Amino acid sequence: MPIDLPMAQKDLLFQVTRNDQAKSVAELEDILAAPAFGQVFTDHMVDICWSEKGGWHRPRVQPYGPIALDPAASVLHYGQEIFEGLKAYRHPDGSVWSFRPDQNAKRLQRSAKRMALPDLPEEYFLESLRQLIAVDGHWTPGAPETSLYLRPFMFAKEAFLGIRPAKKVNYYLIASPTGAYFPGGVSPVSIWLSTTYSRAGKGGTGQAKTGGNYAASLVAQMEAAEHGCQQVMFLDSVEGKYLEELGGMNVVLVYADGTLVTPASETILEGITRDSILQLAADRGHAVERRPVALEEFRQGVASSQITEVFACGTAAVVTPIGQVLTPDGPIGSANAEAGELTMSLREQLTDIQYGRAEDPYGWMVRLSQ
Ligand code: PLP
Ligand code: COI
Repeated sequence: MPIDLPMAQKDLLFQVTRNDQAKSVAELEDILAAPAFGQVFTDHMVDICWSEKGGWHRPRVQPYGPIALDPAASVLHYGQEIFEGLKAYRHPDGSVWSFRPDQNAKRLQRSAKRMALPDLPEEYFLESLRQLIAVDGHWTPGAPETSLYLRPFMFAKEAFLGIRPAKKVNYYLIASPTGAYFPGGVSPVSIWLSTTYSRAGKGGTGQAKTGGNYAASLVAQMEAAEHGCQQVMFLDSVEGKYLEELGGMNVVLVYADGTLVTPASETILEGITRDSILQLAADRGHAVERRPVALEEFRQGVASSQITEVFACGTAAVVTPIGQVLTPDGPIGSANAEAGELTMSLREQLTDIQYGRAEDPYGWMVRLSQ
């Protein structure tokens, strides 16, 4: 007798269409030998439709390829779009794991709320990861510092030029084997302080992971590159006085007494890496402060050696030491600074958990492969 499954379970039955042009073993070996960030994509992708009437439906795994869009699709005009970023790690026994994916699922839900997009249930999000790994898990590289970067995203697909939330939306998941985000690996980076442009404002979309925040950062990122810097740091948009974050990562300062301080504000993306690092530090006995940090406190703290280390953190960047920040009033720190000791030790503790080299006392790792 057929069992009448609840709707949510029925919806999780993914239809899988295999890519008959999948990369050969030899091609894949070449790709995985030196994966750069976000340049090559796996053989498949996940696609789930949503409509106002039908809710989430038609979950599919299909060959990776272009998405057909009506030129009037509202994402192309009004940018109703959100995304996430997380990694799959290959453990010594060959299994594939992700790091706190429940947190990415929840942040996607918060971003969706802010951008008037539908709520993707956490279980759908997690199942999309498992489904993609089931077909493309062999794309997860195994060398140190490498991983399979997972990029879930959702956007307004309805062809409609009125300004209102779209009634048709799709969720996708793509994946890309990756090495270090910065070409120099883990060595200290230089950061350009933007005093001209803001990333986000009060009441805006700073806490949402939405494309517009990144589009708004590009011109400042170009300025950074012109000045030989790898990333841009933004200040608050009201007074231009307080540190916020970098274009694609959070910032943490380490004080001489061992306290870790990170900017807190409603305009910053709440990083999962930052949260995890601060938890590791707190459990080692370090004081941790999430509070406004004035640029002047940063400048004077570095000049007086009250601040001893500064680092950037995020999924792509992991933990990257910051050597100097270039500001209109002169550099803070030095291009030749060495990577901080605590920075590197927290980085190692985090990556040991992520890569399965150490116990995971927090239950952060979630197995994706069967
Ligand atoms: N801030 C911004 C603007 C980001 O794009 C990211 C990266 O996702 C982060 C911070 C760090 O977030 P997470 O550690 O969750 O990757
Ligand atoms: C990530 O770390 O996942 C991001 O989305 C940031 C970007 C620099 C790729």
